[in-house]
Amino acid sequence: MSFQDRTRRFLILSVLGFILGAGIAGLSILMESGDKNQGHQESLPFVAPHIGGPFHLINQDGKAVTDKDFAGKYLLIYFGFASCPAICPTELQKITNTYQSLSKDWQDRIQPIFITIDPERDTPDILKDYVALFLPHMVGLTGTTDQIEKVKKAYKVYGAKVPEGTSYTMDHSSFIYFMGPDTKPLAMFRVSDTADKMTRTIQTLGINAQQ
Ligand code: NI
Repeated sequence: MSFQDRTRRFLILSVLGFILGAGIAGLSILMESGDKNQGHQESLPFVAPHIGGPFHLINQDGKAVTDKDFAGKYLLIYFGFASCPAICPTELQKITNTYQSLSKDWQDRIQPIFITIDPERDTPDILKDYVALFLPHMVGLTGTTDQIEKVKKAYKVYGAKVPEGTSYTMDHSSFIYFMGPDTKPLAMFRVSDTADKMTRTIQTLGINAQQ
């Protein structure tokens, strides 16, 4: 093999190597962007069947209210208790952020509601101060133990007392329920869902529900 032949072979192999390398690099970029796109795809809103139903409760002003008082409104409902140290405040703040990021039109159509699962401690007065920490527009609902048990059952909410020192805390499920104006459940948001995702879902599902 002459010097020229060797040089030519070296050049050809280099070019092939370069093409192969670029191809692999290009492929891996494509695969990565594919992964990223998948990450951006939103999971469909989750909703358990047969959620919701009529209720008779007492609001933060001590007034008896029923589901009919909210007829025609979209509801964002959260069940928890006012002395909850961590999850309840975070989830109520998420409802607040979602509500505040919606247009005025949407805000007029939505009623955020906090329902206590701890009616023994969460009196109307306590709820009044508690919901005011988040949104002036948020309604706080309590009731008799029986009334609360009924609404918990309707929304398939888990909530139970857990002894803590001389007192107790509450163990509870944590979903934000998005209900349509016809009381149909539209979505159940999890702790992992962000306020941004909630806002987008509400706008999309709400418009579809109106058609
Ligand atoms: Ni809680």
